[in-house]
Amino acid sequence: MLSPLLLAAARSERVRGLVTAVPLTRGVVDRFVAGEDLDAAVRTVADLHRDGLKVTLDHLGEDTLDRARAEATRDAYLALFEALGDLAPGADASLKLSALGQALDDRLALDNARTICAAAQRAGMTVTLDMEDHTTVDSTLGVLRELRADFPWVGVAIQSMLRRTEGDLRDLVGEGSRVRLVKGAYAEPSSVAFQSRHEVDLAYVRGLKLLMEGDGRPMIGSHDPRMIDIALALAAENDRKPGSYEFQMLYGIRAGEQRRLAEDHTVRVYVPYGADWYGYFMRRLAERPANLVFFLRSFVSR
Ligand code: FDA
Repeated sequence: MLSPLLLAAARSERVRGLVTAVPLTRGVVDRFVAGEDLDAAVRTVADLHRDGLKVTLDHLGEDTLDRARAEATRDAYLALFEALGDLAPGADASLKLSALGQALDDRLALDNARTICAAAQRAGMTVTLDMEDHTTVDSTLGVLRELRADFPWVGVAIQSMLRRTEGDLRDLVGEGSRVRLVKGAYAEPSSVAFQSRHEVDLAYVRGLKLLMEGDGRPMIGSHDPRMIDIALALAAENDRKPGSYEFQMLYGIRAGEQRRLAEDHTVRVYVPYGADWYGYFMRRLAERPANLVFFLRSFVSR
């Protein structure tokens, strides 16, 4: 009941104004976001690296209709690679194409992403494209295809909630591919997406099966213990070596489990940072309405 409201609020400028104006929101945001600036991101990466965790970094921002902002996002990634240096070998960057100008022009997003990929390659890092709402999937997969012609290691997130996903996965399971399977964090109509948790979970398992049987590198983007157990069973069934797939979880969610799993497996933490945290934060609230209680409590206990 609450999740659709929170997801609608994630795209409301009015609610954004209200939520971001309250200084106390910060305490709750800090649980999910590494910090507002590059220094905070670098400190978080160093801490995670010390605990045996790999990282993928997201410079927060989305849905820009402004060319200068899209270019500023691109430049923020270039500064990130510079700042990281040798701190986190094998680090990855997660890109939202809508922050790089996708809604203005696919070409602009592609050019910005290409510049980021070239810099990532020089820094010994990889890049993964996040997947946004269903209206962007064709464009994102088109940009992926173009990027992979020059940078075959570019990965993509695929959402099990979308009805089209099995077909997309079949196209993506070839050698060298890197696919992050997630359940999906956007409000989608039933014409394109499964609506019940059960259907989304079943589709997730079908996706895991395709990825584990395929020749690419499956990236299991989930905190769900059942999905993690099924992924481990499918990896064993397909004789996969631990280094040929990885688990991915979000910063601040099931942190103990991230460290436990990292004792025997590759675990990568998705680390968002930057001032434009609103949309990301609201999706985290929507995933688990219990988070809303902590959020509202911060107002009451002022
Ligand atoms: P599920 O929602 O069933 O949660 C399982 C358990 O995890 C919960 O019971 C709870 O313990 C914990 N948990 C999950 N979410 C929580 C939260 N917000 N707060 C506290 N606890 C929580 N989506 C998308 O549409 N496009 C994308 O590109 C990405 N990228 C991405 C990268 C990575 C690395 C991850 C892990 C996830 C994404 N997502 C995403 C988000 C994804 O689609 C999904 O919304 C969340 O991962 C929650 O789904 P779970 O699979 O964790 O299961």
